[in-house]
Amino acid sequence: MTRAGSLRPRLITLSCAILFAISAGGCTQLANPSAPQSTVFPGSDWGRMIQDLYGLIFWMAVVVFVGVEGFLLYTVIRFRRRREGEAVSQTHGNTLLEVAWTVVPSIVLLMIAVPTISTIFIGDMPPPVTTNPVRVTVIGHQWWWEFRYPDLGVVTANELHLPAGRTATIEVTSADVIHSFWVPKMGGKVDAIPTRINTMWFTPDAAAVGEHFGQCAEFCGLQHANMRMRLFVDTAANFDAWVQQQRAPASAAAAGDAQQGAELFQRSACITCHTIKGTNAQGTIGPDLTHVGSRTTIAAGMIDNTPENLAHWIRDPQGVKVGNKMVLPQVSESDARLFAAYLQSLR
Ligand code: CUA
Repeated sequence: MTRAGSLRPRLITLSCAILFAISAGGCTQLANPSAPQSTVFPGSDWGRMIQDLYGLIFWMAVVVFVGVEGFLLYTVIRFRRRREGEAVSQTHGNTLLEVAWTVVPSIVLLMIAVPTISTIFIGDMPPPVTTNPVRVTVIGHQWWWEFRYPDLGVVTANELHLPAGRTATIEVTSADVIHSFWVPKMGGKVDAIPTRINTMWFTPDAAAVGEHFGQCAEFCGLQHANMRMRLFVDTAANFDAWVQQQRAPASAAAAGDAQQGAELFQRSACITCHTIKGTNAQGTIGPDLTHVGSRTTIAAGMIDNTPENLAHWIRDPQGVKVGNKMVLPQVSESDARLFAAYLQSLR
């Protein structure tokens, strides 16, 4: 045997091993309930409906796979050529077999189609529980998320709060290009399309209280991968407290760095793009900053909301997230510290 001849089986074995390792790696993430974006441990009714469907189809596929591969293995072994030159009998055409392998897959497809279509219809209908839903409008921007609660008078960005046990009805749209709203633990993706409103609903479980990751799921430009969000599922009491806090006007900076930062901010170009309720900052191009200090992250979930990160973000927004709309004249290090102190005080 030539060298090339003995190399090929080894390459095939190696490729198979690598593929297996990658798939197994994926499985450990799938089987890990604390994996941040796992879809197989749903935290809402809608997520569970999708997961049940997925489970049903998965186990049907397992039965088909084992059946077909088992039959194939049996055939390969049972009908192999045992001796050199032995003639193997050939069969051509078998009506019963051909009818069977047409009818059986049709039945399997029907068994998949009926629950799939009914789940799609359930998702399209109004939510099953309509008492006191929380309405949220989600607006995709390049590259951040705007969340508006029309009934509660709350506008925020990148961090969505919802109460456990109450249905959230969500209207998704976009201010520029097509994005896709996706919090894997809560259910499927919904496209955010300019001039269109797509709807979805889900009821976060009581057991889902906590922080969940989400992200844009439709390629929307340079920073698509950094268009992240957090969903905080709160207890009813914590949600009410959060709403009260978000409805309040911006806290007045009392003194010191925060107050100097406030004066600087009001004189800067920042006010043409950002809103801080109760001040003359009324821009709508960037995120509402009225309570930016209460958020855990900045730059759409990219970095933690600390004074140092905030100052760095203000000094070098293009270095942190190239292509974003924040194009500032050079801010001195001391001014950036004052801006950060002010923004951090907005709780
Ligand atoms: Cu927005 Cu991808």
